[in-house]
Parts: sequence; structure tokens; C-alpha cells
Amino acid sequence: MTAATESQTAAKPHLPDAQTVTAVTHWTDRLFSFRVTRPQSLRFRSGEFVMIGLLGDNGKPLLRAYSIASPAWDEELEFYSIKVPDGPLTSRLQHIKVGDEIILRPKPVGTLVHDALLPGKRIWFLSTGTGFAPFASLLREPETYAKYDQVIMMHTCREVAELEYGRQLVESLRDDPLIGEMVGDKLHYYPTTTREPFHHTGRVTDNLSSGKVFADLGLPPMNPDKDRAMVCGSLAFNVDVKTILEGFGLVEGANSDPRQFVVEKAFVGDGI
Ligand code: FAD
Ligand code: A2P
Repeated sequence: MTAATESQTAAKPHLPDAQTVTAVTHWTDRLFSFRVTRPQSLRFRSGEFVMIGLLGDNGKPLLRAYSIASPAWDEELEFYSIKVPDGPLTSRLQHIKVGDEIILRPKPVGTLVHDALLPGKRIWFLSTGTGFAPFASLLREPETYAKYDQVIMMHTCREVAELEYGRQLVESLRDDPLIGEMVGDKLHYYPTTTREPFHHTGRVTDNLSSGKVFADLGLPPMNPDKDRAMVCGSLAFNVDVKTILEGFGLVEGANSDPRQFVVEKAFVGDGI
């Protein structure tokens, strides 16, 4: 090694499993998204999550689970993140800039994958908050439209501004050169708010239980022969949605045992 390369290495030490940030967008004071380079060897199924992070003050990696928000075919990786003011990782991650490096462990896993569901006619994506992230991947995945006649994206947040990342992503789908034609009129987008007026309001759970979402979209109530669902939100949300789906006769599945719906936590809450 020459003196010149030695000093370059010393000036910019490489993180283990480092990837470079290529874009950052701040959506609200609590939400941002970013894109990073993709390790050449990384293969994943749309809907899976990986561990990402930064080096902690003690020099050890500080890692957290993150859904990959980009589809499996994308050359880069996208993530959609909360900013927890005193969160060990996100209090720092929210300040990343283009050209910075993050750590990404290339071991994708997760239950929100097409392989974990039996074939059906309609797929329901049910989410709150950053639980939208795995569906940002699956909504851009050609397999979603190849496998289902109808795709229903329900996303609920407290306020309208928190829906904006999802709204722009959905809006861009029909003009997407790769999947625009496949999306056609299959996609029903049903965003709602719970603490600010909007054209549709109310919790996912209430809109399913009351039948309002079926009436608004002109769809029949869920039934286990035709409907499939993927669920991603807080633990309380996941538990409540699971009860409702089971009430419609759907059964929870897993990678090793495909059934009618699958669930994943969007985050691990305080004290859980
Ligand atoms: P932490 O110490 O991890 O969390 C502190 C507290 O903040 C938590 O106890 C909880 O009350 C709250 N919190 C953490 N994450 C969230 C969140 N996403 N929404 C609302 N409140 C939260 N986070 C993302 O932002 N995007 C993702 O795509 C994502 N995917 C995940 C996938 C899985 C399978 C799991 C288990 C978690 C995922 N998370 C995701 C949460 C993520 O792992 C971290 O918890 C989050 O980045 C905050 O890290 P932190 O170190 O700043 O705070
Ligand atoms: P609400 O405003 O009625 O509590 P949070 O920001 O607390 O993570 O919540 C995100 C969204 O999820 C909010 O719109 C919230 O509605 C909704 N929500 C929270 N808990 C549940 C639950 N158990 N079932 C359905 N929706 C929920």
C-alpha cells in the first residue's frame, strides 16, 4: 500500500457492511425516507426487513430492524423511518446526508412475503404509521399485480401530513414504466386520518368492522376463499386487526405454513 492510499484510508475509515446514502427526504418532523446503495450480493423478497444502523459512541454497531421499502428489483434500497427524539438510533440517523455511510447487515427476513399466503383474488395491505414501509415495497412489486385481481392499500395516521410519503408513492405507480400497466385499475388506495379532518377518517379496525371500507370501495366483505391480508402496525393494532380478520374466517399463516393472512410488528413499543 502506498503512503497516499494509507492516508486516504485513515481519513475515511470504512464501516463494516457500509452502504452510501444517495437521497434523503424529510416528510414531517417525525418522518423521513432515504435511499442507500445496494450490496451487489443482496437478494431479498419484497416485504422483508434487514438490520441497519450506525456506529455507536462505543465503536460498536447500533442496529435496528427496518423494512426495505423499495421493491426487490430496485438497484438501490429505500427505507422509511420514524424520528424518535431520544431514540438511540434515530436521534442520529435523522441527520444523515447524501454521501454518508450507514451499516446494513445483508440478511433479509420477514413474514410479509407473497410466499406466506395461499393464492387468492384480493390482497389487503393494512397499516398504520411507518408500518406502510413493507407495502411501499410490495406495491412496487410486479408479483403483487400478477397474483391478485385487486390490491387494497389501507394506511391510517393521526394527521394528513403523515400520509404524504404513501400518497406520493401510490400516485407514482400508474406512471411507472415497469409496473404502471400491471397496476391498471387493480389498486384501491384507502388512506385515513384519526385526529384531523380528511376525506376518509377512522381507524382501519373501525372501517373494517363497520363495513364502511367495503361500501366505499364497492367490494364484498372479506371471505377466506378470496381475500388475503398483510398487517403491519403497532402491537395493539396488529392484535386488533388479527381478531377482525379471524372474525371474517381468515387464518394466520407463516413462511413455513402459508394461509390467509400474515402479521409483522412495525416497531417494538415501550415496555414490550
Ligand atoms: P428505539 O429504542 O428502537 O425505540 C424507542 C421507542 O420509540 C419505542 O419503544 C417505540 O415506542 C417508539 N418507536 C420506535 N420505532 C417506531 C416507529 N417506527 N413508529 C412509531 N414509534 C416507534 N422503524 C421505522 O421507522 N421504519 C421501519 O421500516 C421499521 N421496520 C421495522 C421492522 C421490524 C420487524 C421491527 C421489529 C421494527 C421496525 N422498525 C422500523 C422500528 C425500528 O427497529 C426502531 O425501533 C426505530 O428505528 C427507532 O429506533 P431508536 O433506536 O431511535 O429507538
Ligand atoms: P388513534 O388516533 O385513534 O389512536 P400512533 O401514532 O399512536 O402510532 O397511531 C397511528 C395510527 O394508528 C393512529 O391513527 C391511531 O389512531 C391508529 N391506532 C392506534 N392503535 C390502534 C389500534 N389498536 N387499532 C387500530 N388503529 C390504531
